[in-house]
Amino acid sequence: MRLREALTDFTTRLRAARIDEAPLEAEVLLRHALGIDRRCYVLRLGEEVTPDDLEYARALLARRLRHEPLAYVTGQREFYGLLFTVTPDVLIPRPETELLVERALAHVTAWVGSRPPLVADIGTGSGCVAIAIARSTAHARIIGTDVSQGALAIAQLNARQLRVAGRLEWLQGDLLAPLPEPPDIVTANLPYIPSGEITELQPEIRAFEPIQALCAGEDGLALIRRLLEQAELRLTRGAVLLIEVAAGQAPAVADLARDLLPGAEIVIHRDLAGTGRCVEVVR
Ligand SMILES: C[S@@+](CC[C@H](N)C(=O)[O-])C[C@H]1O[C@@H](n2cnc3c(N)ncnc32)[C@H](O)[C@@H]1O
Repeated sequence: MRLREALTDFTTRLRAARIDEAPLEAEVLLRHALGIDRRCYVLRLGEEVTPDDLEYARALLARRLRHEPLAYVTGQREFYGLLFTVTPDVLIPRPETELLVERALAHVTAWVGSRPPLVADIGTGSGCVAIAIARSTAHARIIGTDVSQGALAIAQLNARQLRVAGRLEWLQGDLLAPLPEPPDIVTANLPYIPSGEITELQPEIRAFEPIQALCAGEDGLALIRRLLEQAELRLTRGAVLLIEVAAGQAPAVADLARDLLPGAEIVIHRDLAGTGRCVEVVR
């Protein structure tokens, strides 16, 4: 079978499984199976695919047809222009989370302290936020925390692959608890989906992504609420909290921050789609 025919066949099967962007996904699966970039792929469209390559590509396609997310099938996802390894131990990084990186970098740049700021990425998962910050600035000490040992292993792997391993520390534990000292800048993309809404999510998310990376109690705010309670005890004056929220949650999170950290400055930042996505709290 020629590569062009394989593309048509894969696209048809993905469409039949109601997978959006079937032509693009078919191309990504074939390029990944053949280990070729886009330019090489275009040049080889008229060539025969070897039986071994075709068998491997079909095995990947079968996984995708069972609605396993494309990023788990290929083992990769781009975030902030960097390629991260992802496995079912970690949430697949989402583009809207890049806002946390941008806001953290703005505060690192504005930092006037005599030592570099301590940045803590809470619920680091694949390490995407912590590593993107480390790749963008050398003027910060960065720690990533997570309750999941499996997630921390992937974060460490990503730090090695992206050549910043020596500049990051990884600690296992609950929210701010494992930090050795009060952080200056906190980024947190914690689980925020209300537990009752899990069944409404698309199968790619509900059946494959780690449940402890998705849900947080009845209103989705259980972990963010606890983070703010810990912040009341552990954050010093001037410290910054950057919290990612789901669409519609920003006003409730801002109210919680006002109650628990009286006098704090609170700003809601919108993502590219115009959704209030990051609640910024300066103590
Ligand atoms: C929504 S995922 C975000 C992962 C990553 N920061 C990202 O943006 O792609 C939330 C992460 O928080 C972790 N987590 C859940 N409960 C936690 C807790 N109590 N303390 C620290 N991390 C927690 C999960 O294991 C998961 O890796």
